[in-house]
Amino acid sequence: MKDIIIAIDGHSSCGKSTMAKVLASRIGYTYVDTGAMYRAVTYFCMKNNLIQGGDIDIPALEKALPDADITFRHISGSQKTYLDGEDIEEQIRSMEVSSMVSPVAAIPFVRTAMVERQRRMGEMKRIVMDGRDIGTTVFPNAEMKVFVTASAEIRAERRFIELTEKGLKVDYNDILANVRERDHIDSTRSVSPLRKADDAIVLDNSQMTRQEQNEWLYNHYLEIAGR
Ligand code: DC
Repeated sequence: MKDIIIAIDGHSSCGKSTMAKVLASRIGYTYVDTGAMYRAVTYFCMKNNLIQGGDIDIPALEKALPDADITFRHISGSQKTYLDGEDIEEQIRSMEVSSMVSPVAAIPFVRTAMVERQRRMGEMKRIVMDGRDIGTTVFPNAEMKVFVTASAEIRAERRFIELTEKGLKVDYNDILANVRERDHIDSTRSVSPLRKADDAIVLDNSQMTRQEQNEWLYNHYLEIAGR
């Protein structure tokens, strides 16, 4: 099998990370969740009072970002995110961070800094990276590109179940509104908007079980890496 880069892009809450993680551990690759990087920057802004009433203090963020101690550790196929050495995996999944992450991810200097780190992580190939612009901007030459999608209602329902199972009190309609708003911001921003790369394979998983998606992805990997 050839060593390759696998780029998995698509809408938010469509199960990209779950299937990317499963594939990475099955084939012994490193999994990188790039959404967690933008979430970590958002959490960093909140912790340092750089977001007030929904407004981001962009000049202050530009000054502070190079010194932000955001790190990622890859332990047995999954990724953990740290700020100043503290595990922030739980915090970056909160609704507070979710509701501010799209505008933070739309800031050009934030994207430049994150894309640079992502490219470094892929230097040795053997990576499964999920995000919005991996196949279009980060690794336009990735050997395998998948664009995952599902209806907004189905994605909101899955997110509702996930958060409820974690014991969080959330409202389905709030989640649906957040999913739609993020879709809109992610696909209309000026830098690296979410779009399918011309050579990506589309996976609409609205009607698929997790098992079916995992097999679909694995079979594509075998076909591409075995060529
Ligand atoms: O995948 P996620 O929901 O954790 O992503 C969080 C946000 O970050 C989402 O609004 C889109 C943005 N994002 C991005 O702009 N580019 C990426 N490569 C990954 C995520």
